[in-house]
Amino acid sequence: MKHLLKLLDLSKEEIIDILNLADQLKYETKHGIEHHHLKGKCLAMIFEKSSTRTRVSFEVGINQLGGYAVVLAGEGSQIGRGEPVQDTARVLSRYVDGIMIRTFEQKEVEDLAKYGSVPVINGLTDFCHPCQILADLMTIREYKGSFDGLKMCFIGDGNNMMNSLIVGGLKVGMEVAVACPEGYRPPQEILDFAAGYDCFTLTDDPMVAAKDADVVITDVWTSMGQEEERAAREKAFAGYCIDEKIMGVAKSDAIVQHCLPAHRGEEITEEVFEANAGPIFDEAENRLHAQKAVMVTLMKD
Ligand code: CP
Ligand code: NVA
Repeated sequence: MKHLLKLLDLSKEEIIDILNLADQLKYETKHGIEHHHLKGKCLAMIFEKSSTRTRVSFEVGINQLGGYAVVLAGEGSQIGRGEPVQDTARVLSRYVDGIMIRTFEQKEVEDLAKYGSVPVINGLTDFCHPCQILADLMTIREYKGSFDGLKMCFIGDGNNMMNSLIVGGLKVGMEVAVACPEGYRPPQEILDFAAGYDCFTLTDDPMVAAKDADVVITDVWTSMGQEEERAAREKAFAGYCIDEKIMGVAKSDAIVQHCLPAHRGEEITEEVFEANAGPIFDEAENRLHAQKAVMVTLMKD
């Protein structure tokens, strides 16, 4: 494993290895056991979209591993003024030991890896959000003990989160059901991948997706960069709010995951969100541990 560009590139074993390492690093962090696996190493972080969790968890994570981070915003760097990604990749590779990037097009992340010579980590694109899904899988395993026999459902937009959850969930062996309105389905590449699994369901009925689910997941209806579509999206997703009725058909011990930020009253009710604050904020915390495991896997000598 040289990069983390998308979960489609990873084997089940590679995903499980990262989750196991993340569990170990979490244990060591909680018990004050030093783990300077990346002593003196530098991670460049490029943000062409906003972030709270990704920004803070990567910077804290690389520091806990004995390294340090340099942050580049699109605005204020030559990236925002149109310097080609091929050149940014070759320049940064001369200075740093790894690059994390959050941007719009998946191609930009793939190109960064293609033209650079250091590991590249996808911190979210329009296509996928692999770091988030590693944290989600880590949290699901913490709460449920294993992935065996679990049903995970995602209700909402066929966006970066849904795409990555379909791939990650199926790869680790869960049943995956997704509910989204027509016109907001995942891209064909993801549906083609899922077609190889008997335990995948695509429906427009949230109740069908949530039936007997162990894990119920949602995300915003309007992702970063789609702000102009907000009104149309609010209309299209009416009926896709995770509420007591949807939770009522899931298993009685089902947990809810949300990558955050959340819009209470849109994709999830205040009541369901707060009833699941434990697993949701554990999921946010696990970004730190999962990404440390990714950095150690990719950047350690
Ligand atoms: N979930 C997530 O990626 O959060 P940020 O946008 O705050 O980084
Ligand atoms: N789908 C959301 C996820 C934010 C973490 C977005 O892309 O804006």
